[in-house]
Amino acid sequence: MKKDIREILITEEELKSKIKELGKKISKHYNGEDLTVICILKGAIVFMAELIKNIDMPIEIDFMDVSSYGNQTISSGVVKIIKDLDSSIEGKNILIVEDIVDSGLTLKYLGEILKSRSPKSIEICSLLDKPEGRKVEMNVKYRGFVVPDVFLVGYGLDYAEKYRNLPYIGILKEEVYLG
Ligand code: IMP
Ligand code: MG
Repeated sequence: MKKDIREILITEEELKSKIKELGKKISKHYNGEDLTVICILKGAIVFMAELIKNIDMPIEIDFMDVSSYGNQTISSGVVKIIKDLDSSIEGKNILIVEDIVDSGLTLKYLGEILKSRSPKSIEICSLLDKPEGRKVEMNVKYRGFVVPDVFLVGYGLDYAEKYRNLPYIGILKEEVYLG
């Protein structure tokens, strides 16, 4: 697996310590209130698992799966709900947890769907932010790292469903996806 990685951009230790910080901020912000953390499958699972261990309050979690990319490395702008939430979010504080915000199209679409279900509040927490790729404006309240416009894998992020299990964020060698 390592042979396909050009460079490690964010190490396991850096990820851990940043996520700890994010967890503290979130705990402080929602102090005493209810919170439902929504994991956007599949990319956010590794981040989500680490993040919730660092949130010091009795939260609920739920999962949603949307597709936007297929096996390509550029956003199609087409987003489809593959798995919806199990529970109602009406009147609840919602924190959407995502692996990376690139064009912003996925979260814009999702945000609109979730808003129409009348939650008390909605915020976004993304491990990575690729501002150069942005096509729509997006307010990411909690973000881990700003990253350059290169294709990344690991810590939940995939290329053609692979590499999600790398414990760090790496830059994939171009020859892997250019063939
Ligand atoms: P957006 O709709 O363009 O913001 O795309 C967000 C989604 O695209 C993320 O949830 C990822 O699944 C995927 N994505 C964007 N950039 C990368 C990357 O560098 N590597 C892997 N997946 C990515
Ligand atoms: Mg994703």
